[in-house]
Amino acid sequence: MKICMIGAGYVGLVGGACFADLGNTVYCVDKNKNKISMLNNGEIPIYEPGLNEVVKKNYLSKRLKFTTDLSLAVSSSDIIFICVGTPTSKKNRSADLHFVFKVAAEIAKSIKKFKIIICKSTVPVTTGDKIEKIISKRVNKKLFEVISNPEFLREGEAIRDFRFPDRIVVGSNNKKAINKLKSLYEPLIKKGAKFFSTSRRGAEMIKYASNAFLATKISYINEIANLCEKINVNVEEVSIGIGLDQRIGGRFLRVGPAYGGSCFPKDTKALTVTGEMYNTDLSIIKSVIKSNEKRKILLTTRVKRILSNKIKNKKISFLGVTFKPNTDDMRQSTSLTMIPFLSKNGAKITYYDPTGKKNEFSSLKNVSFCNTIDNACNNADLVIIHTEWEEFKALDFKKLSKKKKFKIFDIRNLYSVKDMKKKGFNYYSIGR
Ligand code: UDX
Ligand code: UDX
Repeated sequence: MKICMIGAGYVGLVGGACFADLGNTVYCVDKNKNKISMLNNGEIPIYEPGLNEVVKKNYLSKRLKFTTDLSLAVSSSDIIFICVGTPTSKKNRSADLHFVFKVAAEIAKSIKKFKIIICKSTVPVTTGDKIEKIISKRVNKKLFEVISNPEFLREGEAIRDFRFPDRIVVGSNNKKAINKLKSLYEPLIKKGAKFFSTSRRGAEMIKYASNAFLATKISYINEIANLCEKINVNVEEVSIGIGLDQRIGGRFLRVGPAYGGSCFPKDTKALTVTGEMYNTDLSIIKSVIKSNEKRKILLTTRVKRILSNKIKNKKISFLGVTFKPNTDDMRQSTSLTMIPFLSKNGAKITYYDPTGKKNEFSSLKNVSFCNTIDNACNNADLVIIHTEWEEFKALDFKKLSKKKKFKIFDIRNLYSVKDMKKKGFNYYSIGR
């Protein structure tokens, strides 16, 4: 099939490369000229394991093309995916849809024959109706169909998640369009993905309800961890114990910092706004958001406690600053709250992250990037394991703390409390 992905971000670029890999011809469009020229020069603008190989292979076979020319890409394709970002609005908690609407108006200009227009961006219920209205101002309704097909891939696991999704959700009342999508996804369905079709609004709702539910699971176990810490119970065992009940399920019950990333924080907020618009109190989601915000402060307070309330001039080293491993994405990472607070209170921060230096910290006083774990931990008073990158899972703390014995705060519970105690480390973790 001939496909066009508008917005070559995490969703559009990964989706485009993977659709091309299934044998389709794909145009990836982005308004960012720099991004497109990088891609045309064989460089990948985001850190995503495995993406480079898939892009390269399909680019060389000419199934995958990169362009800033939206009109060319739309007129050359039968299926058009809208994959531009929907960040939280600068004015309130709602999703900023202006990119989506702008792209819809641009698509309309290039429709001369029938096109299926699919919204993959995460958008509030009824956005599909609005996209349809924008396009129909210019184009006869017989010449296009607007469908919702939310994407559920996770950063850092994006290729695998795209190729082996649990389900493919398609929202439309048009049988022909649903069948077209079913054949596009046929190779994934054959491998076991469930294909589920529903109304367009239903599909939009499923995406928000899924993300909010997963965010709820994480906040739930994090709060249980807070209690476990006080009553000497190991939260890891509680996670396993409750997760073994198939009605609950063991995934997304890992304790850690506040959940972050480009989706959970913005989607939970946007869903409560939709609730308010329709006079429905989504009190559970509201309290999840509150709990997650509180968590960032709670962890900073814990750091203070570990350092006996003396932060000034203490050297604190962060291992990992991204919101999760295998990504360079800093959006809504807990480190963005912890590091500025600690540096403002006089701590000297060093950090190491496998994806390198972060602009987010470059204007902060007393915050510096180190290009090795050794350098970051050198002379530290406290080492904080913030992100669970593989390379932090088997550290030689004896060697790292040779010059000066430091305390360790493992926010991802990578090490065993018993082992660390036996080795004589001053070790703190979550819910244990
Ligand atoms: C996607 C979604 O589409 C979002 O709604 C969902 O919640 C998360 O996944 P993501 O792929 O993470 O967003 O977005 P991002 O990495 O920010 O990429 C968006 C791309 O679209 C950028 O490269 C941007 O330059 C491009 N863009 C944006 C356009 O090409 N045109 C525009 O008008 C706006
Ligand atoms: C999420 C959804 O999982 C995905 O389906 C959707 O398409 C986009 O949003 P992503 O944000 O990329 O994906 O990563 P995810 O693995 O879900 O992690 C989100 C946050 O939750 C991270 O900060 C992560 O550290 C945290 N998390 C996740 C936990 O703290 N515990 C867990 O058990 C799982």
